[in-house]
Amino acid sequence: NGNYTVTLIPGDGIGPEISESVQRIYQAAGVPIEWEPVNVTPVLKKGKTTIPDDALQSVRKNTIALKGPLATPVGKGHVSLNLTLRRAFNLFANVRPCKSVVGYKTPYDDVNTVLIRENTEGEYSGIEHTVIEGVVQSIKLITKEASERCAYYAFNHSRDIGRNRVTAIHKANIMKLSDGLFLEACYNVAKKFPDIHFDDVLLDRACLHIVQDPARYSDTVMVMPNLYGDILSDMCAGLIGGLGLTPSGNIGRDASIFEAEFNDQDYSPLKTFIDLANPTALLLSSIMMLRHMHLNPYAESIENAVLKTIAEGKHLTRDLGGQATNTEFTNQIINNLN
Ligand code: IPM
Ligand code: MN
Repeated sequence: NGNYTVTLIPGDGIGPEISESVQRIYQAAGVPIEWEPVNVTPVLKKGKTTIPDDALQSVRKNTIALKGPLATPVGKGHVSLNLTLRRAFNLFANVRPCKSVVGYKTPYDDVNTVLIRENTEGEYSGIEHTVIEGVVQSIKLITKEASERCAYYAFNHSRDIGRNRVTAIHKANIMKLSDGLFLEACYNVAKKFPDIHFDDVLLDRACLHIVQDPARYSDTVMVMPNLYGDILSDMCAGLIGGLGLTPSGNIGRDASIFEAEFNDQDYSPLKTFIDLANPTALLLSSIMMLRHMHLNPYAESIENAVLKTIAEGKHLTRDLGGQATNTEFTNQIINNLN
């Protein structure tokens, strides 16, 4: 009920359960969003699995979607549905912030990284072949266009969140052509943002820095090619408690999809609706979505309620070391809305 319609892809495993939490909390917070749930169970088209047309049409029409974790069917010829969605809508930048959560203790309490991953090419371009038996090639495709488009997003995002620094992460010392082109694209774009400080760091060095002293990267937005971003974003997530606590937003020109990834609380479809899942990652992703839609007051109020509930520590789900059911955790978030 409201002015906006958002496609909801509940997903697999704990997906439907955590989607229901988000819907209950949004209803209680009076968010002016109407959900349009769609089913993305893969269909067979010309011998290949793909996402049903009505699901794609819903995302195309609404331009914004929230999705739970999606399982990829096992077997030859199956492509990840996550990748299919990223490709279908050309979701060129993937934003992944990781901020220490008060109330969930890890060896770190000062993590506040923001990582932007090029989301359409690199090692994910899917171009592989056997040269002769025992010799294969997997192509890492890098284009100036996709690199610049991603860099633009990183600089604008840095400005939007008031960081005013961008750091390119790369291995241009080894991958001279591909990472060299990515880095050059970042330098080109940096010239258009004189108010934003730009620097670059080798990937291995950045990993070393982040595990030693994550605060070194709490004033910047890191931008990098696809596979590096995949790995480094999980590493950063690990510093704050894992993928159950970290949001993700796939940004495109024509559509954007905000998602929770599979994490250690997922697993088999049998685990659906056992009321023990932690909806935090999907909630935080939905909060990114609200800010993307310029619905900031709702974002703030829901974010405060989620963080307050975890900090209180009385209604934590099992993955966070508590005893609460998802329903109890969700109820407490609703109590903490103001
Ligand atoms: C992620 C995931 C995906 C990736 C998988 C599910 C294809 O790990 O969103 O980071 O590798 O990009
Ligand atoms: Mn990943």
